[in-house]
Amino acid sequence: MLSAAKNKENDMLIAPSMLACDFRSIGAEAGRALAAGADWLHLDVMDGSFVDNISFGPDICAAIRNSVPADAYLDAHLMIDAPDHYLPRFLKAGMNMITVHVEREGAVDLHATLAAIRAGGAQAGLAVNPATPVEKVLPYLAELDMVLVMSVVPGFGGQSFMGEVLEKVRVLDAARKEQGLSFLIQMDGGIGAVQAPLCAQAGADCLVAGSSTFRAPDMAAAIAAMK
Ligand code: DX5
Ligand code: ZN
Repeated sequence: MLSAAKNKENDMLIAPSMLACDFRSIGAEAGRALAAGADWLHLDVMDGSFVDNISFGPDICAAIRNSVPADAYLDAHLMIDAPDHYLPRFLKAGMNMITVHVEREGAVDLHATLAAIRAGGAQAGLAVNPATPVEKVLPYLAELDMVLVMSVVPGFGGQSFMGEVLEKVRVLDAARKEQGLSFLIQMDGGIGAVQAPLCAQAGADCLVAGSSTFRAPDMAAAIAAMK
């Protein structure tokens, strides 16, 4: 498994979202993204309840795992009500990073879920929606390999970037420096070459990009432009 440790001198990590690929040939699309220079593949899992859309579940994640080289890094973003219940299936599907949403705090024991992700051999992420204060994730920082700052309301690709969430990235970057932590900061939603420098300046390490990669005329050029 790849380490989440990342030297700030490194290029931005780019994670194309498979939500924007051609689902008729999802395995080939995963290979196309990796060949175009994708650092990670981002797998958006939606249950039709936590968000108003249904995408795919652990079996499709496993099919993607089986279609890419063993060292490809798969980043599963669980927009689902019961991440604890389904976690074993995503671990079995070979996900490298598993991110759950802080909005499920209370309904789900997030401390236990994050510990179970790591105990299962994956890295643990916690996502925060645009409407949720960043303070909600601060108590979990020491337990995290990544914080995902949503820059759209989750549920659909192709939405416009919400620049006001950049302040959350600045707060998280300051907090990790102050506390000597090394979690990554990922941003997700509405990101292309125009938004990437703003994200980088705020302190982001990894950018999820769906429409701007899979729907670009030249995916390699689109990824290179964001780096
Ligand atoms: C939104 C998803 C995102 C999104 C990214 O619910 O988490 O990953 O699909 O797609 P674009 O880049 O098209 O906004
Ligand atoms: Zn996502």
